Order: sequence, then C-alpha cells, then structure tokens
Amino acid sequence: MNILVLGSGGREHTFAYKIAQSELCDQLFVAPGNAGTDAIARNVAIAVTDFPAIKALVLKEHINMVVVGPEDPLVQGISDFFAQDNELKGIVVIGPSKEGAQLEGSKEYAKEFLFRHNIPTAAYQSFTATTVDDGKQFLETLKPPYVLKADGLAAGKGVLILQDIQEAKSELENMLTNKKFGAASEKVVIEEFLDGIELSVFVLTDGKNYVTLPTAKDYKRIGEGDTGLNTGGMGAISPVPFADKALMNKIEEQIIKPTVNGLAKENIDYKGFIFIGLIKVGDDPKVIEYNVRMGDPETEAVLPRVKTDLVKLFKHVGDQSLDTVDLEIDERSATTVMTVSGGYPEAYEKGKQISGIEEISDAIVFHAGTKIDNGTVVTNGGRVIAVTSFDEDFRQALKKSYQNIEKLHFEKMYYRKDIGFDL
Ligand code: AMP
Ligand code: GLY
Repeated sequence: MNILVLGSGGREHTFAYKIAQSELCDQLFVAPGNAGTDAIARNVAIAVTDFPAIKALVLKEHINMVVVGPEDPLVQGISDFFAQDNELKGIVVIGPSKEGAQLEGSKEYAKEFLFRHNIPTAAYQSFTATTVDDGKQFLETLKPPYVLKADGLAAGKGVLILQDIQEAKSELENMLTNKKFGAASEKVVIEEFLDGIELSVFVLTDGKNYVTLPTAKDYKRIGEGDTGLNTGGMGAISPVPFADKALMNKIEEQIIKPTVNGLAKENIDYKGFIFIGLIKVGDDPKVIEYNVRMGDPETEAVLPRVKTDLVKLFKHVGDQSLDTVDLEIDERSATTVMTVSGGYPEAYEKGKQISGIEEISDAIVFHAGTKIDNGTVVTNGGRVIAVTSFDEDFRQALKKSYQNIEKLHFEKMYYRKDIGFDL
C-alpha cells in the first residue's frame, strides 16, 4: 500500500523509518518531511494543515493510509475531513477525530473527561475573564506551587508553575484578561500540584481495543539538572526503569482501560495514539495530560523497540482488529539524545551545515529540524538531530548515544549531557 506521513520532525522520521521497513509498504510519502525522510521516502512540500493539498496528493498518488504526526491537523479535524469526503472515506487515517483530539486541544475538556470516567488526576477548576476574581479566590484555597494551564494549544508553553501566590494571581490575570497565550488562554485551568516523578505511556487504539506501547520518560528543560526553559524535549529513555509490573497494572486498570472504554462509551471516534502524561505520586499514577499523538522525542526511543510491523498494526487499527495482534517488544533499553541549535528554545539561526552523520554506525540518526540545501544537510529548526541507541540497560545505551553524538558537528550545536540523571 501507499502511505503518507504528515509532519517534519524526529517523530515523523521515526515513523518513516519503521514504515519503510515494512513489506506492506509500497510507496512512502512524507509531507513536508526533512532531510532524513528524504533519504527513505518522497518528501512533498505540503503543510500538515493544508487539507485540500493533502487530498490532492492522496488522490494523485493512490495513498491508502495517512499517519498524522503532530496535533495541529488532528485538532483541526483532518480525520473528519477524510471520513466526510466521498473520495477519501475509505482511507485509513491514524489519528483521532476532531472530538477525540479535544483531549489535547482543550485542557478543560480533558479534565472533564477524566472526572467523568473516574480516572485519577489532579483536582482543578477552570476560569474565564469574567470569573477571574473567583480564580484568585480558588488560588487562596490551594497550597503552593500553583499550576495554571492555558486551556488551548500553546505550543507546549501554556503551563505555568508558580511558587508565589501574588505572582500566580497576576499571571492568571495576564492569561485571562491580557490573553498571554492568545485565544489559548481565554480559559485557564487551575490545578492542584502533584508532587512526584513523571513518566509517559503510549497507547495505540482502534477505538475498541488497544495495545500498550513501551513507556518513556522525556527531559523537557533546556538546561542540565532539569533547569531553564521548556523545550519540545531534549532526550528520552524507554522503558522507564521505575515503571514496574505493579505500577503498570495500576496504569492499565485505573487509566488506560477507563480511557479507551470512556471514548467508546461516548461514541468518540478514536483511531490512533494516546500519549498519557503521568505523575507517580507515592505509589499511584495520576494523569497530568493527554496528547492525541506520539511524543517527540519519545517516539525516537519507543518505536525502535517495537518489533511488530508498524504498518500491520496500523492496518489493524483501520479495521478495528487490534485485539488479534501480539505486540512484540525489544527488551533492551533505548535512549535518544537530541541535538539542538544554539539559542533554542529562544531565537536561533538556521542553515548551519551538519557534518559527521555518516560516521555514526552503532546508533540510529533521526533527523528533526534538517533540510537539504544544495546537496548538503543543514539545520532547519530548533531541534536538529536525535541519536538513538540500544543496550541492555539505559546507562549503557546512553553512553552509546553520547559517543555517537560527539561525531556530529554544526555551528553552535548543543545537547544535554545528563539525560537520565534522575533515574
Ligand atoms: P502539561 O502540558 O499539562 O503536560 O504540563 C507541562 C508540565 O507541567 C508537565 O510535564 C509537568 O512537568 C508539569 N505539570 C503539569 N501539571 C502538573 C501538576 N498538576 N502538578 C505538577 N506538575 C504539573
Ligand atoms: N516530548 C513531549 C511531547 O511530545 O509533547
């Protein structure tokens, strides 16, 4: 079959890498892709939210399956666009309906869903510009730190965690009255702070059945020791060493099953990934967020461990028969470390020549922000290249990732040298 992957990051290069290995895949397209996907698929310069252009490509190239990488097209309804179009409705789209994508598109929607299905999560209330004073009063009832979340998509920047009550109140005001995060913060969720260690679980569901993919932990801050600004993610480890059987059982019974069953019960069309962000508080997992896609860079550590043919899994998602597949997982640990442009996540330059990629032998190079310029690979984004390695445990795997990263060069390249430091 012919397959289209939407997106241009390390996550999408990883999807393309797995899909290209499948015997079920004839032709592979990535839109818009990067220099990494260009080497294994055909890149097409189409934006992930340009639905008419995507439709034209799908019809022209006889594409049978579309794998949606990022959240934006999902929240904008790409799955519904396909389902409602006579020429597109037979095509398998890996990614939920617009309604399902609200689990990521609206923090309030997600909290209401969690409470409706008795899934453990932090206590919360939500507020708008007309109820900002109630919000300030609610803050008075909480203990610091205070967690304020813009309701809508804010490119990963919409969560503020503040120690000081006065600062929390003024930031609440900034978000609601001054629209600090634009339309995304017209509504704000104020949440109880959960104190514990974070992990993520990834589920692939066909709307009825599901498979649980390997766990991962990512490192979001730019600086070592988890300091400085938030980024898209600077590295990831899979599996999470503290996610033992007892914890995974709780996650499955208290979180995954009620989530999938809740979607089905509410008739929410959901064929795709659910990325569940969790905090382990004491011995108990609690949900901090849903994402309706895979994580980046978590995908670069999680998917290489999945031995089952990814296209086969996606086909089972398409015909709602995921209950008939056995998921085969590589027992080794995988780690990925992200190189970024100097200055990221603030302003940075692009177009820097990247060298050393061919010298990497016992690790996998996943391109994120790269492109081909006059035959050479150059930087084209904040996150540039992720290096994934395998070994018996995550410390050995990390050593390999770091040894290989040293072979890479571009001007002002930066990476965190302490991925996994807290484990
Ligand atoms: P989110 O976008 O909801 O994942 O939040 C971004 C980050 O803020 C998370 O990865 C957590 O580190 C942190 N966070 C979010 N909600 C909470 C909470 N209720 N308690 C503690 N930390 C939180
Ligand atoms: N690495 C976090 C995310 O993809 O949202």
